[in-house]
Amino acid sequence: MKVNKVGVLGAGLMGSGIAEVCAKSGYETVVREVSGELLEKGIGRIAASLAKAVERGKLSGAASEAARALLKATTRVQDLAGCDLVIEAVVENLGAKKALFAELDAVCADSAIFCSNTSSLTITELAAATRRPDRFAGLHFFNPVPVMKLVEVVRTIATSDETIETLLDFARSLGKEPVLAKDNSGFIVNRLLVPYLLDAVRALEEGVGSREDIDRGMELGCGHPMGPLKLLDFVGLDTTYAIAEIMFAEYREKRFAPPPLLKRMVLAGRYGRKSGRGFYEYGS
Ligand code: CAA
Repeated sequence: MKVNKVGVLGAGLMGSGIAEVCAKSGYETVVREVSGELLEKGIGRIAASLAKAVERGKLSGAASEAARALLKATTRVQDLAGCDLVIEAVVENLGAKKALFAELDAVCADSAIFCSNTSSLTITELAAATRRPDRFAGLHFFNPVPVMKLVEVVRTIATSDETIETLLDFARSLGKEPVLAKDNSGFIVNRLLVPYLLDAVRALEEGVGSREDIDRGMELGCGHPMGPLKLLDFVGLDTTYAIAEIMFAEYREKRFAPPPLLKRMVLAGRYGRKSGRGFYEYGS
């Protein structure tokens, strides 16, 4: 199936990155947020990232302008009616996602493919909110979306071969490398990454090392671009906590249980970079 027009639900950190990458790759892209204020914030994030790409010599000024021209911002779900593919990237909440997919199902053509960028919820459960389980899959991007090469294409027991082929081609057309994963909570990357990040918090809690030494250990000892505590601040402690809770509920395994320190930091509003403070402090 040929994808011409893409819809993106949510213009947060992930949604704005996904919309940017789609528009940069020549797709007409409609991005939807719940309020004008959040939409403006998301569009601002895309503009800043495009400007950074131009500054870094990754994109020409003309290509940046062309991407901007392909982007349409809206607060109305109805404006996604003509989309061939819709990627949902709203808050990691099952009820909110299901309600949105049910609404979208009535708006879009039967042929349209729906995807979720969820990190940990079960795709099958989201697909059940629609009448198109064969045209429903996971399409999981990584933060920062314009930079990270990977996309996980998640297949449920109901996803059709044609949908998977379309999504693999689509991911490649964005300049990404797709990997195929089964619909198990966390897919491939978060199943491995989340227990590692939670263990880093436990190591800090137990005084194994200072925050700097834990991070430096993994950066210099394993060649990771960021140590685990820096990465937690980058991804968001609230987001990681929500993902860990979902994975723990699914697997009932201790390695997915969020440690008390993580919970306390979230309760104290220390979400990481987005709130100015997490394991480290950030200037505005
Ligand atoms: N558009 C296009 N390219 C950009 C860009 C933009 N807006 N911003 C930066 N770049 C490019 C730069 O030009 C640079 O390219 P080269 O290497 O070719 O020169 C590259 O991206 C790196 O940029 P910077 O030099 O600004 O930054 P850095 O070297 O300090 O790296 C980082 C920053 C990419 C974030 C790096 O620290 C990193 O890879 N960190 C780990 C990120 C990670 O693990 N993400 C996954 C999180 S988990 C997740 O997302 C899943 C989930 O469900 C929770």
